[in-house]
Amino acid sequence: MQRTVHPDQFEGLRRDFPILSRRVHGDKPLTYLDNAATTQKPNQVIDTISDYYRNYNANIHRAVYALAEEATDAYENVRGKVAEFVNIGNKQEIVFVRGTTEAINMVAYSWGRDNVGRDDIIVTTEYEHHSNIVPWQLLAQEKGARLEYIRTDDNGELVLDDLDAHLATGRVKIVTFSMMSNVLGTITDTAEIISRCKDAGVPTLVDGAQAVPHMKVDIANMGCDFFAFSGHKMLGPTGVGVLWVRKEILDSMRPFHGGGDMIREVHKHESTWNDLPYKFEAGTPNIADVIGLGAAIDYLTAIGMENIRKHEIDLTSYALERLSSVPGLIIYGPKDINRRGGVISFNFRSVHPHDVAQIVDDSGVSIRSGHHCAQVLMDKMDVAATSRASFYIYNTRADVDALMESLKTVARIFKT
Ligand code: ALA
Repeated sequence: MQRTVHPDQFEGLRRDFPILSRRVHGDKPLTYLDNAATTQKPNQVIDTISDYYRNYNANIHRAVYALAEEATDAYENVRGKVAEFVNIGNKQEIVFVRGTTEAINMVAYSWGRDNVGRDDIIVTTEYEHHSNIVPWQLLAQEKGARLEYIRTDDNGELVLDDLDAHLATGRVKIVTFSMMSNVLGTITDTAEIISRCKDAGVPTLVDGAQAVPHMKVDIANMGCDFFAFSGHKMLGPTGVGVLWVRKEILDSMRPFHGGGDMIREVHKHESTWNDLPYKFEAGTPNIADVIGLGAAIDYLTAIGMENIRKHEIDLTSYALERLSSVPGLIIYGPKDINRRGGVISFNFRSVHPHDVAQIVDDSGVSIRSGHHCAQVLMDKMDVAATSRASFYIYNTRADVDALMESLKTVARIFKT
């Protein structure tokens, strides 16, 4: 059941995260601000995984003994939790994968190879993560298709006229985009893109890796055709994620991996496939981490995704206000807080982002610097790299203050 969380209560959540009480570089308290890369894990997730290995570790879907049935039930139970968490009506449409990257590769391989041909167009955006570019490049190269982009403007928003122009060619086979930029924090106008694509009869893939952890997502009412997200960016373990595909499409897709569990019958020269979603879950799946993802969903559900979004708006507004006061600091992405999530990329005019990250790390502040697996966007922004702070439920204004203090050290050292 969802509880109402007062802003101060988010601070209390920190006690659930053992790693947040550790020290780095001797005696510096850890200020973890790299949540767009991966989030920390609460005891509830760690203990759930440990409980599986300690008490009911067994393979699933294969045997009738007690442990196997307990493990199978726990694993399948998570499919129900995922369905409820992001509103999916049919659990057969939920495929457990390693993460968003595997999910998109699966679509590009299994759906793309049968539906994209010579001179067809695949549309993505300039602010995609490499996982939503490279699988499509591979497909386009193999099929003689073209990969086209929706550009970003100076505010870090997508130029939707580009979408219209691509759709008008009549050659677009899929439009694939992130619900939120991992660099700019821009929240994509998902409903508008899907509506325009629907009018043109073009399917859409939504990469929800940066959105599902931070806001209420309702897949059933979104109207897309494919949706992907990862567990590790939402308190769950690494190595587990979800691909949702509308049933009519999933039914028609060829298998991605061959092996155990995805078959009905195997003969010397041909095989037949298991029901959905097992046709796409070949081999022993990541049982422990799927069960761990279930614990993460329970944890987030108890806080409430609306509360989480409010907390991040508060924290991001505070951070933007404080960062704007740093002389010589360039902040990227939309100015309007309602158009962005809890991700802030920035650069000092004259200091390399790696130097920034290293100096703030000396104070115990963990931020990411680099191209953030978004080199197309870096080229567009005409920078080699940025520094990036990204927030989650356990971050507080004190974390923003710690970042500010450490940035003052950067400014002092480099005389910015
Ligand atoms: N997508 C991850 C990031 O943005 C890896 O850091």
